Amino acid sequence: MMVIGIESSAHTFGVGITDGKSILANEKDMFHITTKGMIPGDVANFHTENSGNVIERAIEKAGIRIDELEGVGYTKGPGMGPCLQVGMLAAKTIAKRLNIPIVPVNHAVGHIEITKFFAHLNDPIALYVSGGNSQILKLDKKAHRYRVLGETFDIGVGNMLDNFARSAKLNPAWGSTVAKMAAGGKYVELPYTVKGMDFAFTGLLTKATELLKEKSVPDLCYSLQEFAFSTLCEAAERALLLTNSNELCVCGGVAQSKRLKDMLNDVAKEHRYRFGYAADEYNADNGAMIAYVAEKMLSSGIEEKLENCDIEQKYRIETATVY
Ligand code: FE2
Repeated sequence: MMVIGIESSAHTFGVGITDGKSILANEKDMFHITTKGMIPGDVANFHTENSGNVIERAIEKAGIRIDELEGVGYTKGPGMGPCLQVGMLAAKTIAKRLNIPIVPVNHAVGHIEITKFFAHLNDPIALYVSGGNSQILKLDKKAHRYRVLGETFDIGVGNMLDNFARSAKLNPAWGSTVAKMAAGGKYVELPYTVKGMDFAFTGLLTKATELLKEKSVPDLCYSLQEFAFSTLCEAAERALLLTNSNELCVCGGVAQSKRLKDMLNDVAKEHRYRFGYAADEYNADNGAMIAYVAEKMLSSGIEEKLENCDIEQKYRIETATVY
């Protein structure tokens, strides 16, 4: 089934197209984040201005005519309300104009499912790590729902790294700059919080930020990453052991970190688990993952009436039905 998927939950307006067998297009435009951060109205205006262009590019890249589309999916949430609205409206316009079925998709389900597809994993423990989220999940196949086995008590690991980058005046103030600065850094003792399969990052962030007065930035970047990623590895390892799983995957924006993937790979190797992840373009926010999940749902006969389509800013993954 030829399906187009639209993602607009945050700074990226992404459009993907799949025929159910492979990803034919994955185009995007990204709002440039300034020191003001992301003001939802500004980002939504950016999406509105660029949506038509990104959709056209995706159709051209896929090498199809627009009337060959047989279904459309869009991100229902979680995300910023005004931004989600733009994607939903674009999807509804396509569905109405072409008279094709539409289905809302959970953003986190998109990240995990596209990772399973590319990494050829069947039933993994999924570590989902992004700016706003950090969770350990497993699909309950009978219930068609993901179960949250563990998650952050406070902030997402991505926000923690970005926040530290801003305090350390790194430019650009992102986690990837922390990763670059970490090269050659030395160990500094920092707080470490894991409780069962849950974890927390604000204590770590506060301490590392305080230490900017007395320790070097590379030492703190190195140690911050090691402590944060060890926390995630310990919780994920516990989830694997408790569920008897033998597959592990990592997905979401922070899954672009090479250091995190290396550490998780070490955990997997020690227990002889299979470990996989998708290419960076599918860990960043993208439309292909929404198209991929929408195609599976629509092929199973799951669709939403146009008038019932909506968005949900705090759409929790465990409330989404998965097919
Ligand atoms: Fe995401």
